[in-house]
Amino acid sequence: MSRANKVVLAYSGGVDTSVCIPYLMKEWGVKEVITLAADLGQGEELGPIQEKALKCGAVESLVADATEEFVVNYAFPAIKANALYENRYPLSTALARPLIAKLLVEAAEKYGADAVAHGCTGKGNDQVRFDVGITALNPNIKILAPAREWGMSREEAISYGEKFGIEAPVKKSSPFSIDRNLLGRSIEAGPLEDPMTEPPEEVYALTKSVADAPNEPEYVEITFEKGIPVAINGEGLSPVALVTKVNEIAGNHGFGRIDMIENRVVGIKSREIYEAPALLVLVKAHEDLESLTLTSDVTHYKRGHVDEMYSRLIYEGLWYNPLKDALDAFINETQKRVSGTVRIKFFKGNATIVGRRSDYSLYSPDLSTYGGDDKFDHKAAEGFIYIWGLSTRVWAEKNRS
Ligand code: ARG
Repeated sequence: MSRANKVVLAYSGGVDTSVCIPYLMKEWGVKEVITLAADLGQGEELGPIQEKALKCGAVESLVADATEEFVVNYAFPAIKANALYENRYPLSTALARPLIAKLLVEAAEKYGADAVAHGCTGKGNDQVRFDVGITALNPNIKILAPAREWGMSREEAISYGEKFGIEAPVKKSSPFSIDRNLLGRSIEAGPLEDPMTEPPEEVYALTKSVADAPNEPEYVEITFEKGIPVAINGEGLSPVALVTKVNEIAGNHGFGRIDMIENRVVGIKSREIYEAPALLVLVKAHEDLESLTLTSDVTHYKRGHVDEMYSRLIYEGLWYNPLKDALDAFINETQKRVSGTVRIKFFKGNATIVGRRSDYSLYSPDLSTYGGDDKFDHKAAEGFIYIWGLSTRVWAEKNRS
């Protein structure tokens, strides 16, 4: 029985998504497979991928250039939210998924497909992000996920593909599973599955090791307007150019690596290695500028409630949930004065914030100074502390043995 007539398949050019093409047609009776590869600045030629899809049996092979949209509509909102999942992962892979879901749905509507498909297995987060995103954007489109049902090992998938003329990977395939885009690389599997094993240097591609990083520090100033990075060292840059340049500078100094155990949506703990130099620098710098320009109430509420929720929502595939729009409204309100410049020192694996300035700075030297001549009324503190500490004092007196 046919599962669908015409399918748009999210395509990476790898073994799994290539095998999906004959599998959908032979096993699931799909008549036409259209593939869609998204260019998200992964720095890979997509021409050969396009050809490969056709060789594997696709009727049409689409490439979507979405790098700018990725940075402006996905990375920048995450930076405004200081988004770090479990306080560490800047969501470089997770942010790409709702955009790919949108591209799939748009292509399905344009080409009159009744289904979309992806190559995710049943164990990961990406299937959650794709499926929830697709359903939110068009609940009438079917979702097919062959790798969730076929039960083939990688070797079995390779030999299945060979039956249909899909060549096995030429070089001895890497034991790692890698996802890459302009915002970073995610690396898992192989020897990394032992959480006690140190990642070998070869897994990294965007960051130098600390040993190879320059012996001289480099100072860089990043300017933000309303929470969005717009210039490096005073030079205005387009969103994509800016992220590319920060990636180069930070990566060159060995900054941007993460090695963590994270909690996946499906309940599995997983060991992940990430490289996300620019995103980590930009979140750090943005957060610092907020500390200068937002009041303490807004800072504490945003950090403790909104930023944390926003990070989880991205990770958990809820990008198209109305909660996201509601939090965006809050965040954008807070960003009206998050404009200014942050100075960063890159040196031997570190990106240290060493200075910040803003026309909207709430820092008042008159109030903060340790020098004698200030305008703060020291005597007023006594009455404040009497009332502030009252409930603690009442409790302490009651509990004195
Ligand atoms: N665990 C990360 C996330 O959920 C990355 C998964 C990326 N996939 C990979 N093949 N390494 O966003």
